[in-house]
Amino acid sequence: MRVAIIGGGYVGLVTGACLADLGHNIEIVEIDKKKVDAINSGTPYLFEEGLEALLHNHAGKDLMASSSYDAVAGADISMICVGTPPDASGQADLTFVREASKSIGKALRDATGNPCVVVKSTVPPGTTDGLVRDTVLAESRGGDILFGMNPEFLREGRAIHDFFHPDRIVIGGSEPELFERVANLYRKIDAPVIRTRPAEAELIKYVSNAFLATKISFSNEIGNICKKMGVDVYKVMEGVGLDKRVGREFLNAGVGFGGSCFPKDVMALIRFAERLGEDPTVLKSVMQVNDTQPRRIISLLEERIGTVHGKRIAILGLAFKDNTDDIRDSRAIPVIQMLLERGAAVSAYDPLAMPSMKKIFPMIHYGESPESVLMNADACLVMTEWPEFSRLDHEFDLMNQRVIIEGRRILTTSATEGICW
Ligand code: UGA
Repeated sequence: MRVAIIGGGYVGLVTGACLADLGHNIEIVEIDKKKVDAINSGTPYLFEEGLEALLHNHAGKDLMASSSYDAVAGADISMICVGTPPDASGQADLTFVREASKSIGKALRDATGNPCVVVKSTVPPGTTDGLVRDTVLAESRGGDILFGMNPEFLREGRAIHDFFHPDRIVIGGSEPELFERVANLYRKIDAPVIRTRPAEAELIKYVSNAFLATKISFSNEIGNICKKMGVDVYKVMEGVGLDKRVGREFLNAGVGFGGSCFPKDVMALIRFAERLGEDPTVLKSVMQVNDTQPRRIISLLEERIGTVHGKRIAILGLAFKDNTDDIRDSRAIPVIQMLLERGAAVSAYDPLAMPSMKKIFPMIHYGESPESVLMNADACLVMTEWPEFSRLDHEFDLMNQRVIIEGRRILTTSATEGICW
């Protein structure tokens, strides 16, 4: 099938590369010329495991990029993969979705056949059948156009694996032809296909992320109780998670969730509910627990070493989770901010995310290795679950004193404690 992907960001690029690998012909429509050139020459401009190999195999052949919307007119599916960042109030800002819909509409003015527009961006319920349909039809001056919603469930760092091994494929639409066409895109993938209305598909995405975030905040709250009792929350959650109705995943207590999805999507769902006149107390608590965890790790640090003023604090891990260079909403950001406000000297190391963090905190020290930041440190905070940290042991002997507090449970060395354990 011919697929035009609007937006060559993280979701658009990964989806395009994976769809090309399934045998489709992909053209990514991207306004940033640098990204267009990078895609066409097969150079990944974001870190994602396995992406380089996919680009190597498909870029310039069945995976192309361009800044024009020309590919839309001849495409079997035009897929909107643009960002929906939060606005000042936390609502999803749909500016890019609106712009993409306008451009698709214009490109479809003289199109023949039965074009199909599918939203993959995470959008509030009602957007596909409202804003997107209305905007495309207004610009295209009508026409026989199919509209659908097909959310993504790709974890950063594991997105290519998740694309080819999904738990489910959700297709929101109204017409049988729409379901058939989108299902055909994924026909080589073995996964249950759920057919819903567009608003249900839109909600499935938000609710999935909100539920996973709820599991994390719930575990963090239980973890905070366990910490006071001297009980290991990971043992508790092992026992709880073995109940199939609960499930063990996303019960890892720690310093809270970050990234470009959970914080933004939970907030957007709260704002959406409020617009309906609801007061979503569970969702608000999920955010409240998450906002409090970074303050807790600082309080714990101060309990252990007193004031941090003038002390040297080593930070291991800056990315919002392992296997990515992404620092968006990383819990390391508020932690470093609080340390700086209190007059600490911060020295940080991360295998991938230091260049990004330098843009936010150019004033702190960045080390080339864990050893270089642990040297003479008065305390160490572990902020990312990088597997390579699990091997650290004698490196901690370089510290002035062995005060190690984990925000993520990853170390195997002795004499450490965690925020919730
Ligand atoms: C998340 C979802 O897992 C994907 O299914 C979804 O498609 C994606 O958002 C999205 O909306 O695009 P992602 O943000 O890449 O994926 O990262 P996760 O692996 O879900 O982790 C999010 C945060 O939660 C990280 O900071 C991680 O450290 C934290 N976390 C995760 C915990 O604190 N405890 C856990 O048990 C699991």
